[in-house]
Amino acid sequence: MAEEAHSQVIDQVVQEALNQANLSEADLSAVAVTIGPGLSLCLRVGVQKARKTAGSFNLPIIGVHHMEAHALVARLMERELQFPFMALLISGGHNLLILAQGLGQYIQLGTSIDDAIGEAYDKTAKWLGLDMRRSGGPAIEELAREGDAESIKFSIPMKQHKDCNFSYAGLKTQVRLAIESRNINAEIPISCASSQDRRSRADIAASFQRVAVLHLEERCERAIEWALKIEPSIKHLVVSGGVASNQYVRARLDQVVKKNSLQLVCPPPSLCTDNGVMVAWTGIEHFRVGRFDPPPPAVESEDFVYDLRPRWPLGEEYAEGRSEARSLRKARIHPSLTSIIQASLQQQH
Ligand code: KG4
Ligand code: ZN
Repeated sequence: MAEEAHSQVIDQVVQEALNQANLSEADLSAVAVTIGPGLSLCLRVGVQKARKTAGSFNLPIIGVHHMEAHALVARLMERELQFPFMALLISGGHNLLILAQGLGQYIQLGTSIDDAIGEAYDKTAKWLGLDMRRSGGPAIEELAREGDAESIKFSIPMKQHKDCNFSYAGLKTQVRLAIESRNINAEIPISCASSQDRRSRADIAASFQRVAVLHLEERCERAIEWALKIEPSIKHLVVSGGVASNQYVRARLDQVVKKNSLQLVCPPPSLCTDNGVMVAWTGIEHFRVGRFDPPPPAVESEDFVYDLRPRWPLGEEYAEGRSEARSLRKARIHPSLTSIIQASLQQQH
């Protein structure tokens, strides 16, 4: 279904983007496209379209890492954001803490070992019978303002793991049990709930959000410590991805960052969610330093094998943070973007 949804709209989306910019393909200098990580069926739709466009108009092509794009879009907005900086990327599918040392040069400080924070927001919203039209996150954020965040004592994930990895599967289960034990019926939309029922849902939303974000705070705190050991000159923490549009998340992380004399950089919500701008910008960054592929042939051969990277780490894991639970699941992962770029630089010398 996701693949079909992509194929149905891709031509129209590209055309609308060109129209709005008052440009045609002939005006472009290159085409950038996400090649991973993600569902290969969906990646293929984009890569096919990008190669067709680049081939017909004789344009170079740049394969982009989706998570790098989330991080680098901050440099579009904040032009003086120089390397090295840290980034916390929080979306529906991934949580990632990285140290960006240079373009294409990243150290992975932490990652999600199961569900991402956005997924936990979405499920909590669904189980609380909230309006999911804008996705669950904004609905929880809004309802949480009415609730008592201290009313339910959820436990903070991974307290005993002294690393920077994330886990939200356990918190999701805690929330589900709390909802069940309070006899909340998700079939009754919140707009129809009694005031006592509404109050009880708001308490769960607020308590969930408090602990979900405390987990982020703890991980960021430790990551800042690690990052400053590697690169003492760091000044910024970029927070990006869909969940970064949450005001409570921003306010709490701002406290953590200030305590460590750093500055928080949050791209505006429109740039925090996945869109063409962040991929185009990342393409520009790589294009400027000469990292691109030559134009594909105008007519691609039928048996051409697309370079898609569904599981593709951004950088190598920070040695001190290597978790045993994760290193068992390394099968069928593409070499990291950073290691590929490093290898090609060494070849040039
Ligand atoms: O980055 P994104 O647009 O898509 C990817 O997952 O890549 O992130 C979407 C996620 C959803 O889980 C959504 O619930 C969450 O971001 N989100 C929020 C808020 N706005 C969007 N979560 C918490 N508070 C928000 N205000
Ligand atoms: Zn994303």
